[in-house]
Formats: sequence, structure tokens, C-alpha cells
Amino acid sequence: TKGAAMVTAVASRLQAQRKQIDKVLALFRLTQEQLVGIRNKMRVEFEYGLKKDTHPLATVKMLPTYVCGMPDGTEKGKFLALDLGGTNFRVLLVKIRSGRRSVRMYNKIFAIPLEIMQGTGEELFDHIVQCIADFLDYMGLKGAQLPLGFTFSFPCRQASIDKGTLIEWTKGFKATDCEGEDVVDMLREAIKRRNEFDLDIVAVVNDTVGTMMTCGYEDSNCEVGLIAGTGSNMCYMEEMRNIELVEGDEGKMCINTEWGGFGDNGCLDDIHTQYDKEVDEGSLNPGKQRYEKMTSGMYLGEIVRQILIDLTKQGLLFRGQISERLRTRGIFETKFLSQIESDRLALLQVRRILQQLGLDSTCEDSIVVKEVCGAVSRRAAQLYGAGLAAIVEKRREDQGLEHMRITVGVDGTLYKLHPHFSRILRETVKELAPQCDVMFMLSEDGSGKGAALITAVAKRLQQAQRE
Ligand code: GLC
Repeated sequence: TKGAAMVTAVASRLQAQRKQIDKVLALFRLTQEQLVGIRNKMRVEFEYGLKKDTHPLATVKMLPTYVCGMPDGTEKGKFLALDLGGTNFRVLLVKIRSGRRSVRMYNKIFAIPLEIMQGTGEELFDHIVQCIADFLDYMGLKGAQLPLGFTFSFPCRQASIDKGTLIEWTKGFKATDCEGEDVVDMLREAIKRRNEFDLDIVAVVNDTVGTMMTCGYEDSNCEVGLIAGTGSNMCYMEEMRNIELVEGDEGKMCINTEWGGFGDNGCLDDIHTQYDKEVDEGSLNPGKQRYEKMTSGMYLGEIVRQILIDLTKQGLLFRGQISERLRTRGIFETKFLSQIESDRLALLQVRRILQQLGLDSTCEDSIVVKEVCGAVSRRAAQLYGAGLAAIVEKRREDQGLEHMRITVGVDGTLYKLHPHFSRILRETVKELAPQCDVMFMLSEDGSGKGAALITAVAKRLQQAQRE
């Protein structure tokens, strides 16, 4: 009959649509074999970055940090810390008490307006100093001369712990006249320009390093720091003898891998989708930070948005209508992805979130959106897992161990807020590095506290040297 024919027609149309959606989702599925391949490639890039000959062209830069030891518990005092480069810009006062290993912190979050992030370097650093002044005022510390640790979460070439030349901006920053400059000098000059207070800038620290330090303060087995947040990066303790860029063979030094640049030489092209390409092309640094753009909070929502646009164009979503909202960059922040993927949410609530975002959706739409989010974040967690497996396996082999236990200090909004990311990451590491027992330790406020701890250690060493 006519009715039955219509039902069949609708059913087969739905089936065809399902096929089209599955085809897109399949692009984000990685096989075990692919993940092993990615782990192995990452390992190769680590070696390139460490070796003098290959370092200049390496995409994973493996930057020496001049952080060589963990806090030993004798550090104490009051420190200022700055934290620039994550979700928020913060100024902190950190009080470290020796013996009990207790740390107290006071902090204030300041906004960095877009026009400052992408204005001139002078404006950026003047703004930072303005925030420090506000904070000192607020804490009643005007005129105090405190040692300062600067967590600056961008790739820096360091020649000592208190020098860091910005190689290039990553994430959302683009202030002019900073690349190739020493950010500690820039901060000092901005303090001078203001001519209101003096600060003793002791250390410039990557957020991964701060995170590792913070966790290392409690667990001496912590030799890796991981950030899964706005950006994606990892640091670890390396044997000095393997670091060709630094003189000396004794002991260890922390290496900031800057693994976000993994894939910039094309070695991930086989898994790079058209959506990744669109995200890359629409970013501030096209062609750069490919791995970061497939894994971190700043970009995952953008990948999702690109897929949704494509599915809509194919008539598979939002009744085929691409709304102004969907065309807007940055609408899917990490926190929305996390909410959408939460298993506790009923579909109706997913729909409500989409509505909040200005996306008018049907119930079917919200199912598809949730699936898309799941595919993108799952791939991100697996890629992280492959990278992390590469480093722990390297550490195990370098130490000639059959089996190794290691702690990874972790921070970042993606790791902390997302309902599945951390589990998938852990599962992937287990599969790809079966001879390593990897413990994950959440760092509470790692970058600020870590900067203060590193500053404290550096101060202690400075004083020891003087005596
Ligand atoms: C970017 C930065 C890196 C930082 C990471 C996480 O990848 O280049 O230095 O550690 O983001 O914030």
C-alpha cells in the first residue's frame, strides 16, 4: 500500500543518512595499529629534538629548562607568581613553609582582553605589570620586594632558569615584537617603565614544568608533567647525557617537549581530516601545532563545529540550515563539550545546551551532536595516550628497566572537566606501554604553585652559591 511504501522510503532515507554520518565519524576512529604507529613516530621526534644535528629542524623542540632538581622540603618564604597562557591570567602570592611541605596561596584572576593578546608586546607587558600592581595593592603588599616566578606557557629557548626567549606564540596569542625576545627582559622593562616597584624575577617556567614540580613536591616519583587544557604539552626529566644542547653529563634536567608541534612535518597527515585542515587554516598559526590542534581544549570545539557545518551542508543536521551561530568561531568551549558528553545528561538537556548556544535542534540533532563530540574528544584522548606512552617507554628503556613505575602530574581544563577524556587517556597508555605502571596525579593549581617552588629552589641554590 501507499502508507507502507512511504514508511519504507523514510526508513531507507534514514538509513542512508546514518551511513553518511557514520562515514564522517569513522574518520576519527584510530585503530590500535595506528596508535602504535603514532607512539613510535613521537618517539622518533623526541630523539630528533634532543640531538644537536637534527634539533634545528625538529618539530618537537625538546627545550632544556634548566630545572634540574625537585624541591627538597627546605624551601621557604613568600613568592609572587604569574601565570600567563592558560584559560586565565593570574597573579599569585605563594607562601611556602619548610618542613611541613605546606603551601598557602592567594590569587587574583585578571582578564586579558583580545586587543591586548593581539596588540603590541609593550602593551601586553604593561598590562601584566598593571595587574601585578593591582594585586600588590589588593594584598597590602605595595613596596614589597618579592622574588617572582613567571609561568609563561609558550615555547621558550632558555640559557638559564631566568632567561627565556619566546620562539613563537601558540594558542590565542599574537602580540607583536615578542617573538625572538627574552620575556624576562620584557617584563623587567615594563616594571621599569611603571617605576613603582621592583621585583626580583628569578625563574621563567613552562606550565608543564610547574605542574610536574607541584606534584613532585608530594611524590618524588613524579617525573612527567602533562597539560591537557587550552593547549597540549608535556615535560619530563631527562638524563643530562642525552641532552646534546646542554654541556655536562651528570644528573637530569627537565625537558619541555613542546609536543604540540608534532605533525608539523606532515608525519600525521594520514589521520589529519578535512575538518582538522579547516581548523588549522582558520587559526592564528596555520601549519603549526598540528598535534595541539587535534588534542587541546582551544581547538576541539572548533573541530566539532566544522563537522557540524559539513553535516548540515549535507542536509543531515539542523534541517540543512547553517545558522549565523554555527558560523561563529569558538562557540563550543571545553566546558560545553564536557557538558554535552556527560552521561548523566538526558538528551533533552543536551538540546537545552545547544539552545543556549543558539543552535536550534531537534532530538535527533542532539544525538548526532553528542556523537560528534564523542568522536572528537575520544581521538584527542587517544592521541594524548600515544604521546604519553612514547615518553614513559623511552624512560623505561633509557634506564634499562623491565618494568617501571612513574607518576605523571596533570593539569588542564580538558583533563579535569571532561567526563571521559582522562579515562580514555589512561586506557590508551596502558595498552601502548604495558610495561609501565603509570600513576596520574592531579595537580591543584600546578602552574602557579610550581613557579613559586621552582623560584624557591632557584633562590636556595643562588644563596648556596654565594655562601
Ligand atoms: C602550548 C604552549 C606550551 C604550553 C601548552 C599548554 O602548547 O606552546 O608551552 O605548555 O600550550 O598550556
